Amino acid sequence: MTNNANSSDTTIFELGGDLPVRRVGYGTMRLADGPGDPTGPEARIWTAPADRAAAVGLLRTAAEAGVTLFDTADAYALGAGEELLAEALHPYGNGVAVATKAGVVRPSPTEWVPLGHPAYLRQQAELSLRRLRTERIDLLYLHRLDERFPVAEQVGALKQLQEEGKVRHIGLSEVTVAQLEEAEAVAPIAAVQNLYNLATRDHEAVVDHTAGRGIAFVPFFPVAMGGHADPDGPVARVAREVGATPSQTALAWLLHRAPHILPIPGTSSAAHLVENLGALDVALTEEQFARLDREVGASSGS
Ligand SMILES: NC(=O)c1ccc[n+]([C@@H]2O[C@H](COP(=O)([O-])OP(=O)(O)OC[C@H]3O[C@@H](n4cnc5c(N)ncnc54)[C@H](OP(=O)(O)O)[C@@H]3O)[C@@H](O)[C@H]2O)c1
Repeated sequence: MTNNANSSDTTIFELGGDLPVRRVGYGTMRLADGPGDPTGPEARIWTAPADRAAAVGLLRTAAEAGVTLFDTADAYALGAGEELLAEALHPYGNGVAVATKAGVVRPSPTEWVPLGHPAYLRQQAELSLRRLRTERIDLLYLHRLDERFPVAEQVGALKQLQEEGKVRHIGLSEVTVAQLEEAEAVAPIAAVQNLYNLATRDHEAVVDHTAGRGIAFVPFFPVAMGGHADPDGPVARVAREVGATPSQTALAWLLHRAPHILPIPGTSSAAHLVENLGALDVALTEEQFARLDREVGASSGS
């Protein structure tokens, strides 16, 4: 079910079979914009964070706390997310791995438009290398498939970068099993990043498919943009039983679901960051896992 075979440490997953990362990572998307800007689903993710020093400090705190998988994208604040990571963590010691993405353009603060022209993907990877100040991207995701271009051309562009030594591993984001299989015919896929959490479970088939193939499944919105923190919800009830917080419990559910799942919760709070990492120490019983599955899955209609 996993490629974790050479490690008995269940808190570690080997991306692509050779890049060990801690199973709770950190998503940098929320490190953007400033006071007065919309947050949550309306967040623009358009400008560098107003308090740059705080954002850099938070990234360093994450690394010091043991985060090794950092997730960003060229589209987050038009590259400012990658620049922040470089400012905070370059030259990326202590086992830090950076995942970034290409394939979505931002013509305005409210638009995220897939663009899979192979030449564009190559250009964006080159720009990511510059902003991250590295010679090789640990994990480059195709942010979205663009239906105007064959999958083979889009994934082929990433494969070419891999063959040139500029990309270590290739990932896909928001794909179905059929799309993943089409991509796998072109290049080895190390990770799939899809929307998935306790309440949003449209991608169960992708979770199961990737499990059998040693491909990491990286759920985005893992704490449902804070939604699981509701102190009166079903997650909170199990949280009280295990002596954890609701966010930790929601993350623990993901970690329990399968050993190839690597949540990347985002936060602008050092306290939440440390709290989220604590999910690695929360053990759910099979009964608690199933109850959360039933009660939250049912209440969300998924
Ligand atoms: N591939 C894609 O298309 C895609 C799309 C979206 C996101 N992503 C990636 O996935 C990462 C995760 O997504 P996300 O950051 O939007 O969603 P998330 O991790 O589900 O939720 C982040 C939100 O939850 C809150 N939160 C985090 N930890 C909390 C805690 N312990 N208690 C209470 N509230 C907490 C944060 O607020 P505070 O700041 O107050 O903690 C933040 O508003 C992103 O950073 C990004 O790297 C990828």
